[in-house]
Amino acid sequence: MTIPTPTANPVSHASPSLPQADAPAGLPDVATLARLANAFFSSVPGSATPAAASLGSGGGESISAALPFTAPATSVASNPAPPGSPLAGPGGTGTGVPGLSIPQGIAPGANLAPSSPLHVLSIGNRAPALVPHAVAHDGVPDLVHTVAPAMEPRLGGAALGAEPVQIERPAASGAATSGYYFLNEGADAPHAQRHTPPRGYAATPESFGLPGDDFLRSLAAEPRSAPADFDRTGSYYFADDSRSQTPYANSAHPPFDVNAIRRDFPILQERVNGRQLVWFDNAATTQKPQAVIDRLAYFYAHENSNIHRAAHAIAGRATDAYEGARETVRRFLNAASTEEIIFVRGTTEGINLVAKSWGVKNVGEGDEIIVSHLEHHANIVPWQQLASLTGAKLRVIPVDDSGQVLLDEYQRMLNGRTKIVAVTQVSNALGTVVPVREIVAMAHRAGARALVDGAQSVSHMRVDVQSIDADFFVFSGHKLFGPTGIGAVYGKREVLEDMPPWEGGGNMIQDVTFERTVFQGPPSRFEAGTGNIADAVGLAAAIDYVTRIGIENIGRYEHDLLAYATNLLRPVPGVRLIGTADDKASVLSFVLKGYQPEEVGRALNEEGIAVRSGHHCAQPILRRFGVEATVRPSLAFYNTCDEVDRMISVVRNLAARR
Ligand code: ALA
Repeated sequence: MTIPTPTANPVSHASPSLPQADAPAGLPDVATLARLANAFFSSVPGSATPAAASLGSGGGESISAALPFTAPATSVASNPAPPGSPLAGPGGTGTGVPGLSIPQGIAPGANLAPSSPLHVLSIGNRAPALVPHAVAHDGVPDLVHTVAPAMEPRLGGAALGAEPVQIERPAASGAATSGYYFLNEGADAPHAQRHTPPRGYAATPESFGLPGDDFLRSLAAEPRSAPADFDRTGSYYFADDSRSQTPYANSAHPPFDVNAIRRDFPILQERVNGRQLVWFDNAATTQKPQAVIDRLAYFYAHENSNIHRAAHAIAGRATDAYEGARETVRRFLNAASTEEIIFVRGTTEGINLVAKSWGVKNVGEGDEIIVSHLEHHANIVPWQQLASLTGAKLRVIPVDDSGQVLLDEYQRMLNGRTKIVAVTQVSNALGTVVPVREIVAMAHRAGARALVDGAQSVSHMRVDVQSIDADFFVFSGHKLFGPTGIGAVYGKREVLEDMPPWEGGGNMIQDVTFERTVFQGPPSRFEAGTGNIADAVGLAAAIDYVTRIGIENIGRYEHDLLAYATNLLRPVPGVRLIGTADDKASVLSFVLKGYQPEEVGRALNEEGIAVRSGHHCAQPILRRFGVEATVRPSLAFYNTCDEVDRMISVVRNLAARR
């Protein structure tokens, strides 16, 4: 997809001039402005800005005249990073230049103009976001104190109005049972970050409509059940308004306030083409909460080391953090043991691991591998490669016209030659929720192994690998509000024990001579080389975050939001939804008559709305529906009905033009 050049934002460009190389007439010089800005960013809302006085005397101007905002009067405890601290980033008291600390005794910012041009540039880059633009459409106040923390890692949740991150020592019980080097040392490791989910709000999305758009308001006011034609069978997923019938009914977590949740995600305050960003590309990747961003920064500031290999304290911290993350993933998936959790780069690498290790050992000529028509290329290509290597045959479970797999057809395909069945739990292109438990059980009855691709499911529903009973389950951290480049393979212990390594190198060996190598058991056997340590730790922070909110709360909220969006999108003239299964999660794939999907994507981008337009790495299933590409908004729990309204408004306007 071609991303258009963003149009200029007249509002932000109308902001007062900010320091560039030369100070504009009437403003203080660059060094003074840089010092002022630094002092501003390193003060917290409500605190005095120390540079104001000095500017008043030295610069001949007050800070409130120099910068178009004032800090709110709320009193929040300060948490300044000391000069030279790694946490003192470009917006803080550091130099902004990696490895260059401020000499002690020199006022923060005093060195900026001569030695740190990055600082001046970064102020200029940030400033438009700090100037109030249009009123936010989602009710989040668009004030400087809600925007600045996105740029200033040390302010984080406190200034956002959410609870400040508490760095907490590991619980005594956890420390006592840890098998890792230095867990009992006196380090202040942030193994848990406290967050109490907000209380007292219903999870059901509510739209306030768009001002002046009567039609949209009337749609928004419709009952939250599906249109009559949705539910001919009476079992349409969205139409079931009875909370007691949903799988989320017994949630132990309180419902959440979406506006409070949104404040945990700094990027949601970004402006695109002058409008507040709407992130509807969650199936491609999710945004990261401040807790994850902070955890990564903390790891690199306090724990960074290679793991498992050195008898020094920092290696112990890193090893504990990494192995702690493995335990977090185990708990999240309800695996029986951490030895069943292998860290990989993501779902694609996970499926490749299984195909190239288990597959090469167990699949031979004439054997059969079954996938479904819904699969992402990542769950097709590795099996195709295996089939062409071994002489096996790839077979495909067809889907019905709604995009749901046909279990009868699948049953007919299973036979004594079937070695493995690999299916997605949620289709990335259509959103179909696939009955994986039944599919796995049927595979097992035929004597085959089963792999479930959880890339699109883990962020929307509770996953219990013991209950699904799959031999393998794979997912990616970046689709679960964690970092990119990290994911996990769950494999049943007895299956992993019997699998050869697929890559060789350090970390996965017990003993090496030039004649032979003795390998570690799982999971180390499958983790050759230095892994993505920090991002595994970041993934654990993301899982902790999701767990605190409650995956059932998330599922319920998204269920309602998807129903709301479907009800509005479906009747737009010229819209054809691709994927209308009874059971869906997150995804609204559609085409609009008279437009290429890329054109719709570009029009949405002009309004600050990010969706994916294209084939979504799932060409076979789109071709099954006679299209090469779709527009694919995909929702997460930080999205709102107001954002849906904005998208529908664009689609309606396009539809009216052709
Ligand atoms: N698998 C990702 C998607 O569906 C990239 O967009």
